Amino acid sequence: MIGRDLLGIEDLPRDDIERILDTAERMREIGGRVVKKVPTLRGRTMVNLFFEASTRTRSSFEIAGKRLSADVVNFSPASSSLKKSESILDTARTLDAMDPDLVVVRHSVAGVPKRIADVLTAPVVNAGDGAHEHPTQALLDLLTVRQEKGRIEGLTVTIVGDILNSRVARSNIYGFRKMGAEVRIAAPPPMVPPHVEALGVKVFTSLRDALSGADVVMALRIQTERLSGACIPSVREYSATFGIDRAKLHYAKDDAIVMHPGPVNRGVELSHELTDDRPSVILDQVRNGVAIRMAVLYLFAGRRSQPSRGGAA
Ligand code: NCD
Repeated sequence: MIGRDLLGIEDLPRDDIERILDTAERMREIGGRVVKKVPTLRGRTMVNLFFEASTRTRSSFEIAGKRLSADVVNFSPASSSLKKSESILDTARTLDAMDPDLVVVRHSVAGVPKRIADVLTAPVVNAGDGAHEHPTQALLDLLTVRQEKGRIEGLTVTIVGDILNSRVARSNIYGFRKMGAEVRIAAPPPMVPPHVEALGVKVFTSLRDALSGADVVMALRIQTERLSGACIPSVREYSATFGIDRAKLHYAKDDAIVMHPGPVNRGVELSHELTDDRPSVILDQVRNGVAIRMAVLYLFAGRRSQPSRGGAA
């Protein structure tokens, strides 16, 4: 995978997903040591290029790079020449001329990481582009489920909430389907993307039916920054119908786990209690995020001889 881009799960073969998860399992052990550093990527440089807000993703890429001894540069658009109208592609080319071995990109517009990848010699990892994809989030979610359940194949995964505006939902749909899980989505009709059944998911507007027999319940944040019109009558109504609390969780299997990519709107998608306690595994997801990003850096970092110009994902 060295020198390839990681732009989405849609184009990532199942074998590659398994290899990344297996590598992340080994990386996780490093985080449990007193000295959390190995020399694997010594002398390599990675650049974090985040044009959109982030807590978990940006800091875990940075920690992942540092644990592998890479030199990590955090580019912040607010204090860059973007403020002097330099274009995103020129900014990316400028950074590429400094010979990084990997560039991590987050942007609010779908497709920007791909556009950047096309002009860079460094491989690009998509850290979330608009409502399109967020591949490392799906990988860390797959790892968390595999650890909790011992497998992914044959499980029933119900994703609840703002599917339409969620890159996390899209990447997880591809990922869990490829790994052989049944994927259901439950949302108010305006939050269901058109033709989503074509991705192999079952669509429910009744939460009770969607949760019946589920092994994994994944709640998503209402993406207020991406809501173009009034998708839902009110947050209170959404929470009464689709918010997950202990009472509604009873519809799922007795040993179902609850996931959320964060940040959580407490009391909206998830009750306060479920946000903090098992069976929710939110902080395990965060911990696995570092291991997945270490695996991705290890497997993908390395310069290619020329820009990809639309090369393999
Ligand atoms: C998600 C994101 O930014 O796409 N958060 C994350 O990366 N953990 C989900 C969200 O913002 O709701």
